[in-house]
Amino acid sequence: MKFEDYSQGDAFQAEKRTVFSTQALPLCAEGQVARAGDFISATVGGWGVVAVRDKDGAVHVLRNACRHQNMQVVSTPAGTCESFRCRFHGWTYDLQGRFLSAPPPVAPKDPQSPDLHLASLPTAIASGIVFFSLAGPPATIDVGSLPPYGGTTITDIACNWKVCIEHLLAKHAPSADFTWAWPLLVARRAGAMTIVEQVVPHTFLRTRLFTHVFGGVADDIKQAAATIKRDCEALQLERVGGKPAADGTLVDDFHRRLADAYAQDLSTT
Ligand code: FES
Repeated sequence: MKFEDYSQGDAFQAEKRTVFSTQALPLCAEGQVARAGDFISATVGGWGVVAVRDKDGAVHVLRNACRHQNMQVVSTPAGTCESFRCRFHGWTYDLQGRFLSAPPPVAPKDPQSPDLHLASLPTAIASGIVFFSLAGPPATIDVGSLPPYGGTTITDIACNWKVCIEHLLAKHAPSADFTWAWPLLVARRAGAMTIVEQVVPHTFLRTRLFTHVFGGVADDIKQAAATIKRDCEALQLERVGGKPAADGTLVDDFHRRLADAYAQDLSTT
């Protein structure tokens, strides 16, 4: 990897066109949207999306882009609601993303048109995690049977997402106790707990880490998450300074997959 790949937006745009447009991406733990109306919104690899549980108990992943003028409908990272109301001109949508109403001055000509609904993305739930994909039904991972969901710690890190993945993969090899799901998810067992680390590439220099705890509570891993933040922010400076990531079976595999993605992008642009 070149140092620019960690510090400039061009690589992130290439990753958006290849990796994030084609792979199954984790969005949240199912337990974060446990009740009807619960939602989580995030920008994952440049895509603004919302996970929401409807009144029948199903979880949907919707594009967070209003059908009126393409603005962001949900502006808070998490909450509970009866419906979504776009703050710009007041178009409203139900918990499945279906258009409900709009104020008369901005009302659509045909309120029955299906084109007015928020775009719904293929969604799957596996191992307690909600996945979505922009390219057909998402492939998911199986990290084995999990103890009950106990909570999530959210950590904002000033680093490129690749630094965070490299750090989580360093010194590990695939085993019964350690699973990496390309590109964004790592699961590991720690005693009675299973910890699922979900990396959210927010922008090319901003990464959000969701640390989901199964068989424990979120407080159990707060300190560990703070350590990951400190380490990743130091490693970001090293990458920008030209120091490469340490070798390792999984880190090498990660770099190979990225190189393939960049090559594919070059061949199509
Ligand atoms: S952009 Fe959402 S109502 Fe106009």
